[in-house]
Amino acid sequence: MKNIEVSEYGVTPEGIVVKKFTVTNKNGMQLEVINYGGIITSLTAPDRNGQYKDVVLGFTKPEDYFTGNSYFLGAIVGRFANRIAGGKFSIEGKTYELETNNSPNHLHGGNEGFSNKIWEIEAVPNSQTIKLSYTSKDREEGYPGELKVTVLYTLTDDDALEISYEATTDKPTIVNLSQHSYFNLSGDFTELITGHELQLYADYFIPTDNTMIPTGELKNVEGTPFDFRIPKLIGKDIEIDDEQLKFGSGYDHCWVPNGKGLRSIAEVYHAETERMMEVLTDQPGVQLYCGNFLDGKYETKTGGRNERRTGLCLETQHFPDAPNQSHFPSVMLIPGEKYQSKTIYKFSVK
Ligand code: BGC
Repeated sequence: MKNIEVSEYGVTPEGIVVKKFTVTNKNGMQLEVINYGGIITSLTAPDRNGQYKDVVLGFTKPEDYFTGNSYFLGAIVGRFANRIAGGKFSIEGKTYELETNNSPNHLHGGNEGFSNKIWEIEAVPNSQTIKLSYTSKDREEGYPGELKVTVLYTLTDDDALEISYEATTDKPTIVNLSQHSYFNLSGDFTELITGHELQLYADYFIPTDNTMIPTGELKNVEGTPFDFRIPKLIGKDIEIDDEQLKFGSGYDHCWVPNGKGLRSIAEVYHAETERMMEVLTDQPGVQLYCGNFLDGKYETKTGGRNERRTGLCLETQHFPDAPNQSHFPSVMLIPGEKYQSKTIYKFSVK
């Protein structure tokens, strides 16, 4: 297929060969995906001079993905993106226990979640779409039911990355899938994202306790550092003395974008390069995470280290701890029903 090339990416410690699929659109924009964790290892976007540059953080060595990607860098996260309090939830009176990999809570499906699995991967004929499939066994990571998951990544000719998720189960279970790419629109992975401007069309966000589990309240952003309804530099209020910012070590919270169905929820802008990213989703929530826990352990693709706040995630999803908070939109999936969701990251020049 002309627009999709396949190559060998690396070999896991277990001896499994991981493939890389590279999709190129008519403008020369490129998306690189590997079938380990469904990880996006590279995604380019245009700047004001029409130059396409990589805008997602990634490791320089394949083995760094294969041996404990604790940042969930670029990966598909599941079965349940975000946190579940105490790693416990119940369905029909039965309690299920999950790994508490983010002590005392469960985070992003656990250390052996979807971000660390080998997915089946194929190019959809005559398209710019990559299809990833994974079957998660009954009780894998503690979750009930065999879950069959497919994720489609499409690179469109108008410079958008469209992500479509589907899942079915053979027993009642919970599902909340997301994509964990860290963006840095400067194209320089040592530059802090606090200099990016963000607009988030959300009147409410979800405050948490000090372990980052929602208190249950949806709080109006008015008068708080969480108000991004008018475009604002991410760094403007991030160091304000605020209990919620302390809990997250900066922004690491779920917002509740206004409206329902597939809608525009956010725009991120990097003034110097004029790169712009619009986010659209049909999900009820979006976690803005500002790379507060990146710690300089790895070298970036543009040199230097992956220091704190050199990437930002806008993880579209259901609300954190939804399985334990009955007033949050349901994350239950039952046999015969299909989980479906869609998110678009669209790039342009302002
Ligand atoms: C979470 C952060 C966490 C990070 C893991 C984010 O989605 O909200 O708290 O540290 O993922 O890399």
